[in-house]
Amino acid sequence: MKGKTTTVLVTGGTGLLGKGMGETKPNGWRILSLHQRDYAVEDSRADHLVLDIRDKAKVDELFAKHPFDAVVHAAGIASVDYVERHYAESLESNIVGTLNITSASRRAGVYLVYVSTNAVFDGKKAPYAEDAPVNPVNKYGRLKVECERLVAETLKDYAIVRPILMYGWNHPVCRPNPATWIIEKLMRGEAVQLVDDVIENPLYNIQCGEALWALLKKRATGIFHLAGGETVNRYEFGRRIAEVFGLDASLLKRVDSSAFPDIAARPPNTTFVTRRMSRELGVPAMTLREGLAHMKAHARVKS
Ligand SMILES: NC(=O)c1ccc[n+]([C@@H]2O[C@H](COP(=O)([O-])OP(=O)(O)OC[C@H]3O[C@@H](n4cnc5c(N)ncnc54)[C@H](OP(=O)(O)O)[C@@H]3O)[C@@H](O)[C@H]2O)c1
Repeated sequence: MKGKTTTVLVTGGTGLLGKGMGETKPNGWRILSLHQRDYAVEDSRADHLVLDIRDKAKVDELFAKHPFDAVVHAAGIASVDYVERHYAESLESNIVGTLNITSASRRAGVYLVYVSTNAVFDGKKAPYAEDAPVNPVNKYGRLKVECERLVAETLKDYAIVRPILMYGWNHPVCRPNPATWIIEKLMRGEAVQLVDDVIENPLYNIQCGEALWALLKKRATGIFHLAGGETVNRYEFGRRIAEVFGLDASLLKRVDSSAFPDIAARPPNTTFVTRRMSRELGVPAMTLREGLAHMKAHARVKS
């Protein structure tokens, strides 16, 4: 006899995090993924739907049609600089969208995992454990703090995960990330300016997927920091990429944040403590070399 399939709604399932979840999906689980733009998704282990989470009627209709076992809410505008410049649109996407998803989940009594960020911290007192006080330095971080509050104050059965800077192969339809951007620039022989005053322990999207599945299986509650096992600044991150991918590291130019006066403020050091991730989820943080080597071994082929 076939066992029961557990269905998880993943909003923003075509993004980098959603792709990591798709690639690590355990047997017996099904992903229904939402995105908003009208494109087809190839080479995916999820079922995909086009639906804008700002549309409350459509969200309610979706929940009425599908009895979800869990929800991972990752959709929204995730670019720090885009949020800074397009605040009204970002409020609708991140606040209204989150309200629509959380209220439908509350009425259906579904366990929800909200995907937040390291940008909730000011970056002055790293390393950060889950109970550290939040104090965002940009509009994106402030929106995410509001969404965390909305989740915590309206739902009973929830977890909040805060992934740190993520790297990995994105779906070609979605935005690049610092790793794919650096790889592509170096492969074209272009110089890349990288700052040495923004510091994190970057997270491989495949490991992020594994941590989310561990969380879903346990229906764990509370806040979880998800990060890698190695702390680097962005310049060191670029050097490690060049080394693992065999690219020309002399094209990497070390600068500080004053070289980019027009972008949103970044918290300087948001390195995470990953004790909860390893002890409670059973996912020990992967080193940057391990993550990049896995990425290299699974390089996407350009058509
Ligand atoms: N990437 C990181 O380094 C990082 C770090 C910390 C936290 N996070 C958080 O992790 C989550 C996922 O990030 P990501 O990098 O995977 O995102 P991403 O690659 O930018 O993808 C965003 C996803 O959200 C969807 N989306 C956006 N607005 C939507 C709407 N109104 N209705 C339905 N779907 C919508 C997008 O669909 P379309 O393609 O159709 O627009 C896409 O599937 C976000 O909440 C982000 O804040 C990310």
